[in-house]
This record gives sequence, C-alpha cells and structure tokens, in this order.
Amino acid sequence: TWTPDNFVDMTVADLKKKVGDGKVVLGLSGGVDSTVAAVLLNKAIGKNLYCIFVNNGLLRKNEFENVLKQYEGMGLNVKGVDASARFLEALKGVEDPELKRKAIGRVFIEVFDDEAHELKDVEWLGQGTIYPDVIESISVKGPSATIKSHHNVGGLPDFMKLKVVEPLNMLFKDEVRRVGASMGIDAELLGRHPFPGPGLGIRILGDITAEKVRMLQEVDHIFIEGLKSWGLYDKVWQAGAMLLPVNSVGVMGDERTYEKCVALRAVESTDGMTADWVHLPYDFLQKVSNDIINKVKGVNRVVYDISSKPPATIEWE
Ligand code: XMP
Repeated sequence: TWTPDNFVDMTVADLKKKVGDGKVVLGLSGGVDSTVAAVLLNKAIGKNLYCIFVNNGLLRKNEFENVLKQYEGMGLNVKGVDASARFLEALKGVEDPELKRKAIGRVFIEVFDDEAHELKDVEWLGQGTIYPDVIESISVKGPSATIKSHHNVGGLPDFMKLKVVEPLNMLFKDEVRRVGASMGIDAELLGRHPFPGPGLGIRILGDITAEKVRMLQEVDHIFIEGLKSWGLYDKVWQAGAMLLPVNSVGVMGDERTYEKCVALRAVESTDGMTADWVHLPYDFLQKVSNDIINKVKGVNRVVYDISSKPPATIEWE
C-alpha cells in the first residue's frame, strides 16, 4: 500500500541510485511542489542539490525574504536571486496578458540560465512537476510550462539540455502535501494557496509599475492576513486581489478623490479547472474593505468578485 513514508524511503533510494554523485540544479518557487521536490532531493543527495529562488518582484509582500529564510532553515542549499529590476524593466509598457506572461517567462529563464552557468558540472535539472502537469504538459500553466513555452522562442537555454529529475511526477497534489508533511515540512507552507508563476504581474490589469506592485502587495497582504486571522484561509482554495486599471470618484473629508479600485477574489475549487466564489462573511468583507481603504494610499474603492469559473477564470488576466 502507498503511504507517504514508503514513498519517501523508496524515492530517496531511487534518487541516490539515479543521480549518484551528480549535481542537480532546481528552481524553487515558494510553492508546495518545488519545495517538496527539493526536500526529497536534499535527503538523497544533500549539498549536491543547488536550489535557486528567483525574486521576480511580483511576489506577495515580504514573501521573498520570508520564504528564503524558511528554505535556509530547512537546511536547503539555496541561493536567493533578486532580479526584480530586470523583470520590471522587461515589463515596462506591456499591457497584454499573454505578452506579460511571455516577458516574465523569458526573463526567468535568462536569470535561471545565468545562475546555472555559475555552477560547475551540473548534470541534472530537478523539477517539482506533479502528475496533473504531466497529463496537461502542453497547455499547463505552471513553472514547468513557462519553461516549455520557451521552446518556441528558438535555441534552448543551456540548463534545458540537462537531464531531468522529477520525483513527484506520479503524485497528485494531496499526495504531495502528505509526503511533505511526513518529511516534517511546515504545515503552513504545505497549506499555502496556489499562486501563479507570473504572480502579481497578472493581477495588475494593464501595465505594471513598481508603484502599482507596492500598492497591490499592501492590499493583498491585508486581505490574506485577514483571512488567516478570521480562520478563513484554510477554507478557501485560492484568494487574492486585483488592481484594476480604472479610477473612480470618492470623498475624503471635504475633498473629492479620484483613485484606484481593487477587486478581491476568493474561490473554492479542487483543481482550478472549475471554481465557485466563496461566500465570505459580510463582517469580514466590511473589515477588510475598511482596512484597505484606510491604509492603502491611492485606493478608494473595493469590490468583491462573485463570478464562478466557468465562464470567469480565477485570475483576471
Ligand atoms: P485561471 O485564471 O485560468 O487559473 O482560472 C487557474 C489556476 O491557474 C493559475 N494560473 C497560473 N499559474 N502561470 C501559473 O503558474 C500562469 O500564467 C497562470 N495563470 C493562471 C491560477 O492562479 C489558478 O490557480
């Protein structure tokens, strides 16, 4: 019978045999899959696993620093690379959602390739690909897909010529979480909501600027921390905020304001393919809305997205 403990024992033994003294490079995203894959590989080959965690500048507030510390605390051999400026530069003036994804994917690959070149004699590319990614490998929108879609762009970056090792490619998400738990990975990390590879880049509708990123990080932080403190976070499959490209009129004191509107979204789902909006308590929405408008300069209106998927997607872009 399949148990997480058996899986870990078998996989670690297999990885030892397969990889031997070889070096593996792996991109960590802060998500469950890449983290569990890294911890398994770390158990098998230790310091021969080189993890790279790229800050694309589109992560949640304080996420890069916090998650990097967590990774270090788990004993992973990890290098944090802050490439925020490079991503922002590549996104300047880009409004189309698919072009944004392409730009973010392209810069990620450039940054990762640069880092991989710094390492000598790497033979393997580790990936946190899980079974549903394998099935959907043509259309899937995960980090591995970012890499796959790059196939169209011409020559392969060097790291893609490496042999691939994907210890989770037979597992479903819930099994990955159980494997992670059996290896002692923090429950909070394992319970994190899915977060898209392009991050806040596809939650800022229209063009992206550093100021808009900062604004949305504050809004998102208030919403997510609110969900946690009200005990709602684990009841929701995914949640986040969108910064809309419209200003609307408001009043503050005697003054008329003309400022940004944000949309909050929280959905229930099992796989992201279909989703229902969550009936969050009105008291909670009221509190969060007040906090956002009082604390985030430049935002004067908050709306809640009550659309289900299909036909609406989870992300707005
Ligand atoms: P949609 O918006 O298509 O999202 O309903 C379904 C799930 O996929 C995530 N998503 C992405 N993940 N790169 C990713 O890694 C992407 O470009 C991307 N677009 C959407 C979304 O957050 C949701 O979990």
